[in-house]
Formats: sequence, structure tokens, C-alpha cells
Amino acid sequence: MANLKLTNVEKTYAGAVNVLNNINLDIKQGELIVFVGPSGCGKSTLLRMIAGLEKITGGTLEIDGEMVNDMPPAMRGIAMVFQSYALYPHMTVRENMSFALKIAKKPQNEIDEAVNRAATMLQLDPYLDRLPKALSGGQRQRVAIGRSIVRDPKVYLFDEPLSNLDAALRVATRIEIAQLKEQMPESTMIYVTHDQVEAMTLASRIVVLANKGIAQVGAPLELYERPNSEFVAQFIGSPSMNLLPGEIVGTGQQTTIKMDRGGTAVSDYPTTDADMGLKVNVGVRPEDFLETDGEHIFEGKVNITEALGEVTLLYFEKQGDGDAVIGKLPGIHAELRGKSVKLGASPDKVHVFHNGTSLLYR
Ligand SMILES: Nc1ncnc2c1ncn2[C@@H]1O[C@H](COP(=O)(O)OP(=O)(O)OP(=O)(O)O)[C@@H](O)[C@H]1O
Ligand SMILES: [Mg+2]
Repeated sequence: MANLKLTNVEKTYAGAVNVLNNINLDIKQGELIVFVGPSGCGKSTLLRMIAGLEKITGGTLEIDGEMVNDMPPAMRGIAMVFQSYALYPHMTVRENMSFALKIAKKPQNEIDEAVNRAATMLQLDPYLDRLPKALSGGQRQRVAIGRSIVRDPKVYLFDEPLSNLDAALRVATRIEIAQLKEQMPESTMIYVTHDQVEAMTLASRIVVLANKGIAQVGAPLELYERPNSEFVAQFIGSPSMNLLPGEIVGTGQQTTIKMDRGGTAVSDYPTTDADMGLKVNVGVRPEDFLETDGEHIFEGKVNITEALGEVTLLYFEKQGDGDAVIGKLPGIHAELRGKSVKLGASPDKVHVFHNGTSLLYR
């Protein structure tokens, strides 16, 4: 059960390959922190530094107020679950889960108790006497998690634990992890994933990593509703937020933007007189667009429609050199293909960025 504090943490690999800088992060006991970010941005590196498997080349890591930069991994009270759960193939589930405690020479009754408790938590009771080869991928991953639970660590680290599972199993295992966390409210967990839904549903807070540092930290809906930059705005949410160029023509409690390609946007982001004439990008999520006959933020011809059942994705013809605009309307709208459509959005869903930064975070 632990608080973690990272202060100016930095990683430079041998050969002067600098991959992380200025990582400052306070993780409170009981939080489930999710690291997301583009491939290669340093998520695994950061996790491995916390685990002690990788040297911290600058800054400090504290666990419960104690500096642990040079503490060996086994002393840190941290358990790590990897994407490739290397179970011992010749050992049963029970033996796999007992192994670390046997090595630590714990008494047999203590081992049995810990293994049984973890097995129940993870719904592995029926499989305790099976070998890993007789388990599904999801069950094997649960055994890997079980191996860490029996050690009763202070901190759990998960590096993309579900990415080897098929879609249905991912969903089931994700929900199990959420339930597991509820049963262990005091444990601190850090979880790396590429999966938006895992990040949004599991996290108490999401840490977005990019450009060797932290782009933004916040509760999932905070990042979704108030991203601090175009990068975070487009990284969280799928399909990505649309960005459309314009110029500020009205300031105050609400901001009015004249769109470069016609139309007008009104945003709840406040501005001052000094912002008049500022070149900005207006950000609207595909799901926040509304079809309108009135004032529009965007007008375009629908190139392709994708009916997903509950929603239809509209891909608009590209205008200029920007990304194609995407809309997401509730219901089925195959009839819009080839048509010209006007889209607006409620002012509280209209984001405004200048030089890549949200006007709310200047
Ligand atoms: N031992 C190493 N020596 C030098 N560079 C390394 C080493 N290990 C990783 N890197 C580099 O550090 C960067 C971060 O790697 P890391 O594995 O932490 O990324 P990641 O965010 O986990 O990516 P992914 O999402 O693909 O798993 C990458 O550019 C990688 O090439
Ligand atoms: Mg990784």
C-alpha cells in the first residue's frame, strides 16, 4: 500500500539515447494510474524504472517518502505483470501461483491461504490443478496476475496485460481487472495500455506521455472534455477530434470564431479583447457534431458513410491539406452519402487552440 512520487525523473539509455525528461508525478495510495502515449514514447521504460528493472538516470523515485532509486527490485514491494505472461509450463496453476512464496520460504498454510484467496478473487478455483497449456489466454493472464497478488505487493505494475487477448476476452478481462481493483481499494496500480476504452474505464487518472515528457495528467473525463493541447485532444477519443482553422472575431465569456472555410463557431472558452484576430484551430469531436440548418461550423460533402449500428460515421471530402473531417451521428444515415451536410455543435463542445495549446491552459 503505497504512495509514489516521481521528481524530475529522466532516462537516458546507454549511447546517450534520451527518452524521458522532467517526469513529475504524485501517485496516491489506491489510485489506478494509466499511462498512454504513442508507441516508443517511453511508457514501458517508465514502468521498468519504477519496478527497478531499469536504472533511473536522473531525478528521484520515492515510495512512501523513501528514496528508492538504488533499491533492488525485490526490495521495492512491487509486482509487475507483462504482456507476455511467462508462466512455468510444467507447473500447475496452483504451483505457478505458489512459486514466489515457496522461494521466499513462507509456511505452507500461509501459501495455501494466499493462493486460495487470489484464485477466488480471479475466479480461478476450478483451474488450480491444470497446467497452463490447458487454459485460455484470458485464464493464463489471470494466473499471471494471481502470481503477483499472492505476494501482496505495495504497487502493481501492468504493461499492456491484455494486448495478447482477442476482443471479447479483452472486454471480459478488463471488467475483471476493474472488479479486482474494487476488491483491493488500498492497492496502488499503474497500468500501460494502447486501448482507449481500457484507459477511460479503468483509470482514476490518465497520464498522457509524449515528446519525452508528460503531456497532461487528469481524470479520464477531464482529458476528454478539457484537453490542454491539440495533441491530447486528438490522442484521447476515437475517431480523433476534428481541428478546423479559423480566426477569433468575438471575445468575452463566449468566443466567436469565423471559420476559414465558411461558417461560424461559438465556444464557451472565454477570451479577452487582446485575443481579437487570433488565428486558432477549432476542435470538435465527431460525436459532438450536430446536423444543422442554421449557423454551421463546417459544411462539406459526405464521401463515405459507415453504419456501425448505433451510430453512422460520416467521412467528408477533404478540403485543402488538412485531415478529412469526420462526423458521428446517432442512428443510421446511409442517405447522406454524396450529400452536402452542415454541421454545428453546442458551445460547450467547441474547443479552441492556439499554436497547439488550448486557450483554457495558457
Ligand atoms: N535498452 C535500450 N537502449 C536504448 N534505447 C532503448 C532501450 N529500450 C528502449 N529504448 C528506446 O526507448 C524508447 C521508449 O521505449 P519504450 O519501450 O519505453 O516505449 P513504449 O512507450 O513502451 O512503446 P510501446 O507502446 O511500443 O510499447 C524507444 O524509442 C526505444 O527505442
Ligand atoms: Mg511498451
